[in-house]
Amino acid sequence: MGSEHSLLVIRDHAAVGWTVRPCRERSIRTAIVSRGGGGAVPIVTIPARTLADRGVREEDAQPPRTARPAADSLDARPAAARAALDDLRTGRHDNQERNSTMNPPTVLVTGATGTVGSALIPALQAHGVTVRAMIRDPARPVPGVENVVADLADAAAVAAALDGVDAAFLNGPSTPDAAALQIGFADLAHAEGLPRLVLLSQYAANPDSAVRFLRWHAEVEAHVRGLGLDHTVLRPNLYLQSLRAFAGTIAQGWFGAPVGGAAVSVVDARDVADAAAVVLTGAGHTGAVYTLTGPRAVTHAEIAAALSSAAGRDIAFHDTSAAEFSAALAGLLPPWQLDGLVEDYAHYARGEAATVYTSVADLTGRPARDVADFARDHAALFTRS
Ligand SMILES: NC(=O)c1ccc[n+]([C@@H]2O[C@H](COP(=O)([O-])OP(=O)(O)OC[C@H]3O[C@@H](n4cnc5c(N)ncnc54)[C@H](OP(=O)(O)O)[C@@H]3O)[C@@H](O)[C@H]2O)c1
Repeated sequence: MGSEHSLLVIRDHAAVGWTVRPCRERSIRTAIVSRGGGGAVPIVTIPARTLADRGVREEDAQPPRTARPAADSLDARPAAARAALDDLRTGRHDNQERNSTMNPPTVLVTGATGTVGSALIPALQAHGVTVRAMIRDPARPVPGVENVVADLADAAAVAAALDGVDAAFLNGPSTPDAAALQIGFADLAHAEGLPRLVLLSQYAANPDSAVRFLRWHAEVEAHVRGLGLDHTVLRPNLYLQSLRAFAGTIAQGWFGAPVGGAAVSVVDARDVADAAAVVLTGAGHTGAVYTLTGPRAVTHAEIAAALSSAAGRDIAFHDTSAAEFSAALAGLLPPWQLDGLVEDYAHYARGEAATVYTSVADLTGRPARDVADFARDHAALFTRS
C-alpha cells in the first residue's frame, strides 16, 4: 500500500471479510482487529506488515460496500476499547490530551502472557485502568482487554503499541538479547513521550555481578535512568512460580538444585504483579527502585516442606552439584541460559539473595505471600498425577 496512512482494520463478525481503512497520518501502519464473541471482545492491534503476511491484500484497503460501517461495529465494543479505537481513528496520541478526558488511563503490559504479566492484567483491571496487552501471537489474545501484536525486536510494532498509552510495564524476555530488546523499547518509549515506564529488573541487579542476568538488568536500568524518562524499577527476587519448572520431578517426590542450605527471600509473582499495578497507577514512585521479596527467607528444604504439607505427600529437596544440575538440563536449555541459571543458583547458594524487604507490603498495604500460601494455592500442580 502506497500511502503514508496507518490502517484501521475492523473484523466485523456480522460482515464477511475485513473492513480496512486509513485511520491516521503516520508512517507506521497499524490495524485494529476486533474478534467476534460474546461478552468482552478482545481487540487486537496488528502491524500492517503482519496483516500482509496473513493475507490482507492491498485491495482490502477499500471498505467493502456490503460491510457495515465501521462505526456500527464499534458500538458493540466495550467503552474503553471504543476510546482506544477513537484515539487511533482521530490520530490522537498526545498523552496530556488523553488525561484531560474522562477516559481511564491506558497501561501497556509487555510479556502479557508471562508469569508476572498474566497476573498484572487482572491487577490493573482492579485499579480501573484500560489494559493494552502486548502479545506476539495474534491467535492467542488475552481475553477481555485490548491486545497489540508486537515483538520487542520489531520497532515499528512496538512504537504502535506505545501509541497513546499513559504508562508501560516492561518485562524483558529470557533471551540472550534481552538487554538490547529492553533498551530498544525504552528508547522508543522515550521518543514517543511515554509518561511512565515501570521496568521489571531483578534482585541484586549490578553491573559487576557474577550473574549475567543481573549484569544485563543493570545495563537496562542504567540506560533507562540516562534517558530521563519518568520510571520506576522493580527488582523481584526468585519467583516461587519458578518451582513449576520442577513439576516433573516433584511428581516423583523430589526436586533438586545447586543451592545447598542457603535461604532465599523468594517472592510470589502475584505480589510482583500487585506491586507493579500500584506503581503503574499511583503517584510518587518516580525514580524509585523497589526490591520485592517474600516475607521471609527460606531454604529449599523449607520450600519442600511447604509443598509436602500442601500436597499431602512427601516432597524432598536434593542438593545437587552445579555439574549434576547442568548435566540434567543439558539439551533442555541452550548453553547461555543453562550457564546463566547455574550462575543464578551459585548467587543464591552464597547467601546473596536472603535479605527481606518490606516493599510488597509497603506498596500493596497487605503482607507479602508466604511460601505456604503459594504451596496451598498451587497444590494441584504438585500433586502426583
Ligand atoms: N523467573 C524468575 O524467578 C525471575 C525473578 C526475577 C526477575 N525475573 C525477570 O523476569 C523477566 C521475565 O522472565 P520470566 O522467565 O519470568 O519470563 P516470562 O515473563 O514468564 O515470559 C516471557 C514473556 O516475554 C514474552 N516475550 C518473549 N520474547 C519476546 C519478544 N522478543 N518480544 C516480546 N515479548 C517477548 C513472552 O511472550 P510469548 O508468550 O509470546 O513467548 C512472555 O510473555 C526476565 O527479565 C527475568 O530476568 C525473573
